[in-house]
Formats: sequence, C-alpha cells, structure tokens
Amino acid sequence: MSADDQKRRAGEAAALHVEPGMVVGLGTGSTAAWFVKALAARDLAGLRCVPTSEATADLARELGLTLSTLEDTPRIDLTVDGADEIGPGLALIKGGGAALLREKLVWEASSRCIVIADAAKVVPVLGAFPLPIEVVAFGHKTTGNRIADVLIDHDISQPARLRQAERGVVRTDGGNVIYDARCLAIHDPARLADDLKLITGVVEHGLFLDLADEAIVGTDDNGVERLLP
Ligand code: A5P
Repeated sequence: MSADDQKRRAGEAAALHVEPGMVVGLGTGSTAAWFVKALAARDLAGLRCVPTSEATADLARELGLTLSTLEDTPRIDLTVDGADEIGPGLALIKGGGAALLREKLVWEASSRCIVIADAAKVVPVLGAFPLPIEVVAFGHKTTGNRIADVLIDHDISQPARLRQAERGVVRTDGGNVIYDARCLAIHDPARLADDLKLITGVVEHGLFLDLADEAIVGTDDNGVERLLP
C-alpha cells in the first residue's frame, strides 16, 4: 500500500469523527487534503470549517464546504491535520508545508485534535525531519544567528537554513520566512520549544507538544491504526 493510500485511509477514517453542526479545523498538506475531500463527500448539515492555509481554503471552497474564520468561530470542535513526524506521546513536527503558525492557532483553539498520517511519519525520536521555524522577515538573518546559538545549546551543530524554492525565498501566508533546523535528534523537545520562543523575531516553531489527542495512521494492511498520547 503506497504512502498516498495510507494518507487517504487516515483522512477518510478521521472524517467519520465529524458530526453535523460542528466547527472543524482543516489542516494543510497532502494528508489533510484527503480529509477535506472525505469530509466534503459526507455533506453534513450545518458544518463550518476553519482552514489553516490559503491552499486548504481554496480546496475546501472548490468542494463546497462552508468556510469560517477564527474570528467568527473562535471555538473549534475538532481539528484534523497532518504532520511531518509523530514522536512519543504524540509530540509532533509540523510545518513542512509552511502553514505552522495558522495551524497552531487553530489547533490551540480546538477542543479536540486528530493528527492523520502515513505509517512512515511515526518515529521513535523527533528530529530527522528538519524542524521548521517561522521568523519575521525583518532582520531574519540576525534571528537566524540567534536560532543557531540556541541549537548549539541543544547539541545541534548545523545552523538552520532559510527555506528557498525555485522562485526564491519561501514566504508563509502571513508574509514571514521559514528557517529549517536539521536537528537529527531532538532530545528535549519541550526545552527546545521554550528556548526558540524566547528569541525575538521567532514567530512560531513546528514543535506541536501536548496538542494531539489522537493519531490515525494508515497502515500497510489496508487499515488504520489509532495511537493515543
Ligand atoms: C503543513 O504546514 C504541515 O504541517 C503539514 O501538515 C505537514 O507538512 C504534513 O504534510 P503532508 O500531509 O503533505 O505529509
């Protein structure tokens, strides 16, 4: 079973947790897109959806889902979103799709959060996937140097790299830039999260700790596995 099939199964299984009339947070990325499609196919009455990126908003709109915003619906019943890594206790790395800030705002406003993924995302230690750190564009090189100092304090010797795409420096939906930190292994995610947040210019980082209530992971045998923190 391909990774994409596993993502689809996880997305479809998560869509079954949604009930009519709910306010639902819509994640960003290829796995979340499967959830959005499965949710639209259920055609539930009274559903309002808060997207975590412009890309997800476009997809949801195309599929006929009713969109809302955090301003209009500040209390979200359930958010379903993908992840780049799922570690012990359902600690996550997110932000590979550059939507980490809006994602975290929506997750934190949610009564319940389900992370969906293919099996390869489940890891014994976080950090093989580069940790995304969203930084204000003004003076971002200075902020990048301060991030490097924090990383050294966490035994991470490589400085974080400014994310680039073919068209140049990647900008988030909020106009910020992203630094990706090749941590390899994050031994103390909570301390790293705290230390990064103390740097002026760091808007948010991709460590999602104590936020996921449940993971639904597509497995090789055509099924899904449910993981709890
Ligand atoms: C978006 O910023 C990310 O947090 C995604 O949720 C994450 O990168 C997972 O993406 P895929 O579902 O495409 O693997």
